Amino acid sequence: MEIKDKVVIVTGGASGIGAALGKAFLEAGAKAVVAVDLKTDGAPAGSDARLCDVSREAAITALVRAVEERYGRIDVFCSNAGVLTPGWDVRTADFAVWERDWKINVLAHAVAAKAVLPGMMARGEGYLLNTASAAGLLATPEALIYTVTKHAAVALAEQLAFSYKRFGVRVSALCPMAVATPMVDQFAADGASAGLDGVLSVETVAAATLAGMRAEQFFIFPHAMVGDYFAKKAARHDKWLGAMEALQTRYADLHP
Ligand SMILES: NC(=O)c1ccc[n+]([C@@H]2O[C@H](COP(=O)([O-])OP(=O)(O)OC[C@H]3O[C@@H](n4cnc5c(N)ncnc54)[C@H](O)[C@@H]3O)[C@@H](O)[C@H]2O)c1
Repeated sequence: MEIKDKVVIVTGGASGIGAALGKAFLEAGAKAVVAVDLKTDGAPAGSDARLCDVSREAAITALVRAVEERYGRIDVFCSNAGVLTPGWDVRTADFAVWERDWKINVLAHAVAAKAVLPGMMARGEGYLLNTASAAGLLATPEALIYTVTKHAAVALAEQLAFSYKRFGVRVSALCPMAVATPMVDQFAADGASAGLDGVLSVETVAAATLAGMRAEQFFIFPHAMVGDYFAKKAARHDKWLGAMEALQTRYADLHP
């Protein structure tokens, strides 16, 4: 899809990858970029910054209706807001935190799809960009909830991709490894496995995302090695589990 003249919503749009995506969409000629977050400070200049807590179904639905009313349609919905809770040990699990992270990292993507698909299908065109993570295909061994919810986000994106393609809707799953954002700064301050293959800038990730959307690729891998790692995981799964065990042993004490 070409972004020129499109109406785009980006959740988590006031920080990190979301803010860079919003800026890149505006530079590519979007008609409007609605940058949605828990704050407006940090949204890109020229965007329509709005408050919305994506963990609340009613808030996402109201946002979609308000944006459709203001701009006439939504061409692209980027479900990008996300949270990372460190911790590998299920013995210390707080399931209220699991539920919160599930709502933001997974359920919000489904709620957004439910709200925008009728309009997209009526026009025979639309795009869902769902930010998952390389952790959704591989693992972040020091962040159990993150790995689990990001796997679910990938599965949801896959299912949306094959269910709505015949109605003109395209879906991409953005799956980076480490990117220089407040999320990763906080998590990896003492070191983390996610940064071992390099930490990309948000601008690099945004450019790769727009290129992937233009090509209507399902997986967008700003770190090219992720596709190779995924293939190796499938081909030699026991070996992959061994590599994850080694990584976790190395980092477990930093993220107990
Ligand atoms: N930074 C990385 O290394 C990395 C790697 C892979 C995937 N990701 C994913 O990229 C996405 C963006 O993360 P980022 O790295 O830019 O982090 P970030 O912390 O800079 O941005 C995340 C934004 O989401 C917002 N947010 C959180 N909960 C929200 C809620 N309930 N409602 C609305 N907004 C909410 C936050 O306020 C924040 O502005 C996330 O889904 C993250 O999991 C990040």
